[in-house]
Amino acid sequence: MQLIALIITLLLLAHAKAQLQLDSDAELLPGSDVEADSQPEPIAEQDRSNCPSSCSCQYAAYNELPIARWINHMTSSDNDADSTLEDTDFLMLSKIKLATCLLQDEHETQELFNALPLDLQALILLHGGNAESQLTMNTSSLRGLNQLMTLEIRGNGITTLIIDEPLEFLQHANFEALRLQASDRLKRPKYSKLPSDDYEYKPPRDVAANEVTPKYELQFESDDVVEIMSYEQHVERLKQTRMPSFYGWSRLEVLRIHSCNFNELHWQMFDGLTQLHHLSLERNGIEELQPFAFSGAPHLRSLSLAHNAVARLYYLGLAGLLELETLNLSDNRLERLSESSFPPLPHLLKADLRQNPIMYILPATFWVMNDTRELQLGSELAALELRSWNSYGQFDSLHKLRTLRLGNVSTASLEQGVFKGLHAVEQLTLRGNILSVQFDAFAGMEQLRELDMSHCGITELSMDAFMGAKQLQLLNLSHNNLTHVPNGLLDEQTQLEMVQLQNNQLTTLPTSFFLQPRLRVARLDQNPWQCSCDMSNWKPRMTNTIRLPSVRSCVRDLNGQEILCRHVVGYETDKNLVPRCANHNGRSVYYVLRKQLHCGATRIFGHSKGSSTRGLPHWRKIELQQQQQRQQQKPKQKRKQHKKPRKSHGSQRNSLHFVLSHQKEPQQKQQQQQQHEASLSQEMSNEI
Ligand SMILES: *[C@@H]1O[C@H](CO)[C@@H](O)[C@H](O)[C@H]1NC(C)=O
Ligand SMILES: *[C@@H]1O[C@H](CO)[C@@H](O)[C@H](O)[C@H]1NC(C)=O
Ligand SMILES: *[C@@H]1O[C@H](CO)[C@@H](O)[C@H](O)[C@H]1NC(C)=O
Ligand SMILES: *[C@@H]1O[C@H](CO)[C@@H](O)[C@H](O)[C@H]1NC(C)=O
Ligand SMILES: *[C@@H]1O[C@H](CO)[C@@H](O)[C@H](O)[C@H]1NC(C)=O
Ligand SMILES: *[C@@H]1O[C@H](CO)[C@@H](O)[C@H](O)[C@H]1NC(C)=O
Repeated sequence: MQLIALIITLLLLAHAKAQLQLDSDAELLPGSDVEADSQPEPIAEQDRSNCPSSCSCQYAAYNELPIARWINHMTSSDNDADSTLEDTDFLMLSKIKLATCLLQDEHETQELFNALPLDLQALILLHGGNAESQLTMNTSSLRGLNQLMTLEIRGNGITTLIIDEPLEFLQHANFEALRLQASDRLKRPKYSKLPSDDYEYKPPRDVAANEVTPKYELQFESDDVVEIMSYEQHVERLKQTRMPSFYGWSRLEVLRIHSCNFNELHWQMFDGLTQLHHLSLERNGIEELQPFAFSGAPHLRSLSLAHNAVARLYYLGLAGLLELETLNLSDNRLERLSESSFPPLPHLLKADLRQNPIMYILPATFWVMNDTRELQLGSELAALELRSWNSYGQFDSLHKLRTLRLGNVSTASLEQGVFKGLHAVEQLTLRGNILSVQFDAFAGMEQLRELDMSHCGITELSMDAFMGAKQLQLLNLSHNNLTHVPNGLLDEQTQLEMVQLQNNQLTTLPTSFFLQPRLRVARLDQNPWQCSCDMSNWKPRMTNTIRLPSVRSCVRDLNGQEILCRHVVGYETDKNLVPRCANHNGRSVYYVLRKQLHCGATRIFGHSKGSSTRGLPHWRKIELQQQQQRQQQKPKQKRKQHKKPRKSHGSQRNSLHFVLSHQKEPQQKQQQQQQHEASLSQEMSNEI
């Protein structure tokens, strides 16, 4: 008898789950994409005793339960997860009693709550059905379940949860597609102090006042935004609107309210949540962050407001979040950021501001984020204007930033100063419209290892564009509109391992290109190469190669314990990547050189290692540089003006000249002499 009931229950549940998945849009289910590639759900022990008929009860390791999905998802938004793991490790491994119940109508729901086993630790309530099926429930009806740590309720959009009593035992709560309301009976604390009372921070003012045109003027500087209603006014209003409050949910660590139309935030809502570490309020139609909205949860480490409608950000909205590590404001309606957008966020590590139509970032915006490691911006809706002001850049004071990703930027010319102060950035990704890159654009970015400027419409690079970025290992300039690579562009980048130049308009390359000491991959395909014997030192093993994702490889001892591990990068040959000659019917460069141009002879000279100056003592290089500079007649001034690409003819003559003058130096070692004779001959044969 019991068995039949169980089978019916399981069938019912399966049906309801399927229906819920159909009803809700895919994104409503967090981590559903994550789930797809994970293992099939483990068959948990069934608990047959004491389980109401519309529920399925299981007893399983916490991290195997469906609720662990959203908890892990939210808590892993911590950058290095180690701090969170400490707290939850024990929990994740222990066995937990979970009931998953289908809600039908109100009467049955009350009965169901009464029948649930009192030692339940986790509860999932699902209310599917069509949008007409109304259901209202009380938090007070869950009071008896005081062992409950985790509660998840998924409604159909009009399912209502009335908060009439705090659930002070809960640690994790997830509400989805519900209406949350407070009851008039809900006891609200009496406040003697407002959060604004001892808040002192004031944003810097008028940082760019002299330099900013009227279109940058602030619109919401008036002080009435700051004003907070009196306590009585507020209580009145809260009662009127049934504004929910989580006051008294004192053990709550993770709170997720998605798609609940939970759009009016007030500081009382989260007040007293001193254990709350993770708060996610996605898809609620939030338009504005009221002053001190989250200051009652001062230990928040992650906050997500993604997929809302926040159009303006005033620093008091996020005031008091001194421990925040992750801030997600992606997919909102922010159009600009300024010094009054953010309060101090001294521990913020990651900020996601993508999918906001941000066009302007005024200087001093990020002064309050001086510990941040990762920043992402960019949207399809608007292009971000990249620029600098006389003495300020847009990203000033992000001294610890490691990763910067900017999508859809717009600037006619990427100038020196735009990335000023970004000394620690290792990875920079830019997309958008950058017509030219000026000299010293990345100066000071001494840690920069990966620079991806593909799909930026770049037509011109200054010969000193990458000056100062000495650690560059990966340079991605693919899918641009480059017609020429200036001679000497990569002279300083001795660590360079991979250069991607595919899908440009290149016809020639400086001969020194393949002399990069550590170069392993050079993607040159999809360019209209004008083939000539100048290309004799091109190397098929570099151009016809892709780098594979790195693989972790370990040395193990006899017991199979890992002793030493490292990431190994693999390479693979791909003949399709071969560069082709536009002037020889699209034939492979190497074929044309060998079979049609018969360039074999010059290859003798192609063995020289190092460019014309490499291997020379430093003093000699400087001397050569000075010589070169004298010849170019005030080149710095020339460079500062908008430059035309130097004709390759001219630059070859220059390098020819200083190779010659170096030859005349008597004290050079013979070995070096030979080397440079080789390169001299090569330069000469190029010229002919
Ligand atoms: C909510 O709780 C109150 C008091 O316990 C009760 O009178 C009321 O019927 C409950 N409402 C629902 C919808 O459960
Ligand atoms: C921000 O939230 C969106 C939507 O949930 C998510 O796709 C994105 O990965 C989040 N960003 C970060 C940095 O976690
Ligand atoms: C960030 O700024 C604050 C306030 O100006 C300062 O106290 C703190 O030391 C700075 N932190 C870093 C890492 O520079
Ligand atoms: C960049 O923003 C503009 C609007 O300013 C938009 O038309 C364009 O599609 C965006 N580009 C990309 C690649 O998203
Ligand atoms: C590249 O440049 C050519 C001519 O300078 C121009 O016609 C073309 O639209 C450009 N392409 C892109 C993708 O910017
Ligand atoms: C370089 O950019 C292209 C186009 O955006 C991209 O497909 C490719 O993966 C990038 N290469 C690397 C190594 O990141």
